[in-house]
Amino acid sequence: MKRTLIEETASLIGEKVKICGFVKSLRSHGSVLFFDVRDFSGVLQTVIVSENEDFKVAKKIRPEWTIEVIGKVKEKPEKMKNKDIKTGSVEVEIEKLKVLSESLTPPFSLSSDGYEVNEETRMRYRYLDLRRKRMKENMIMRHKLILYCRNFLDKNGFTEIETPILTKSTPEGARDFLVPSRLHQGKFYALPQSPQQYKQLLITGGFEKYFQIARCFRDEDMRADRQAEFTQIDIEMAFVEKEEDVLEIIEEMVISAVENLFPEKTIKEKPFPRITYDEAVKRWKTDRPDLRENKKNENELAFAFVVDFPMFEKNEEGKWNAMHHPFTRPSEEDIKEIKKYPEKIKGMQYDLVLNGNEIAGGSIRSHKKDILEAVFQILGHKKEEIREKFGHLLHAFSYGTPPHGGIAFGFERFLMVLQGEKNIREVIAFPKTGDGQEIMMGTPSSDIGEDQLYSLGIKIIKEKNEKQ
Ligand code: AMO
Repeated sequence: MKRTLIEETASLIGEKVKICGFVKSLRSHGSVLFFDVRDFSGVLQTVIVSENEDFKVAKKIRPEWTIEVIGKVKEKPEKMKNKDIKTGSVEVEIEKLKVLSESLTPPFSLSSDGYEVNEETRMRYRYLDLRRKRMKENMIMRHKLILYCRNFLDKNGFTEIETPILTKSTPEGARDFLVPSRLHQGKFYALPQSPQQYKQLLITGGFEKYFQIARCFRDEDMRADRQAEFTQIDIEMAFVEKEEDVLEIIEEMVISAVENLFPEKTIKEKPFPRITYDEAVKRWKTDRPDLRENKKNENELAFAFVVDFPMFEKNEEGKWNAMHHPFTRPSEEDIKEIKKYPEKIKGMQYDLVLNGNEIAGGSIRSHKKDILEAVFQILGHKKEEIREKFGHLLHAFSYGTPPHGGIAFGFERFLMVLQGEKNIREVIAFPKTGDGQEIMMGTPSSDIGEDQLYSLGIKIIKEKNEKQ
């Protein structure tokens, strides 16, 4: 007999069905037992009476066991109907009952939203935590939003292209995760902090509109809106000369995604206001202002583009850093003065902010070698170093690179706000904890054999590195 999904039973009154799922809860009235069964599509009440030959089995069943039920769908008496759920007006009268697998008693309740449970315990039992309704909805909306953006970009002529994970460092301002090479002992790959250089090389390769749902890796301290491993919707476009060329398409994607997938939300202002960096810092003392009327109203979405960022900022050592990254193009009128007055130079950079969160950032790029070299020099790179680290890009730019620009969404940050969550861990299936561990699998682990280390040419120094 073919399995019926629970949500379908509402329209199958009088028919015999087979349903499978987890036991959400159970109630015993002596000679009658009720099981609420949950599958991915919904929840359904099932009932078994003591005359049934499987009643003995039924009495052993506990919450979270998986069971298979065969029985007839019946309409519930009017006063027993639960109007809040789709299947609330029906129940299944069990004819045959089979236990598919037993469950230990879960370490926490799966019926609540889970915020009250100790985070370490939630992470250790993440596969159970994911069974709760809130987590399921977060994961489903994650899927829907990615799919929506992917389809939108496809319809607008973008090509999705994957770029390497084993790669070379791209400066996005964080530390790199390194992977030792076995075939080239003593050498390392870096995991990408973003596909920045590859997407610019794809533009050089003639792909005029690129996107990727890209995994990015940054070895930095974790916060509520930061993970070591996260996802970007990464976008790059050729033959764009001004910021608006990129902002317009992004704005269209964001508005249509929100209106289609989150109809309960209202967007405060359309088109999104464009605010200069100077104005934002002056008025709101931050470059990611929260422009909501009522900060407690989760259904209000206040988007804004922050534009005209300074190109450079001084770090703690007094050296110049790129505010976004060195590939950003300095604004046209400032280029002549670039070496004289780095502090005055504006970059063609933009961020998208939402309710006080930076959810995307990008820029128009320097596609001319000499400007890029000048920027690297201001950042303190020696000529040799520039050739070694970025020679491939500068060389590529000697072959007719179109002017280009792009942006990348911090996908989880965007989704976190839309789902009304306070931490991006809530929208990631298997996130890292605050100190960079994935507790359930036990990563990072020291469980590496001597042979494996030997073949990589690596020796572990036990004493703690002084610099750590
Ligand atoms: P940027 O470094 O600004 O730009 O990153 C783009 C967006 O990614 C999100 N983000 C993060 N999300 C979660 N955890 C993190 N550790 C994390 N770091 C960043 C933010 C941010 O706005 N290559 C450029 C983009 C470009 O120029 O096109 C880049 O990566 O929401």
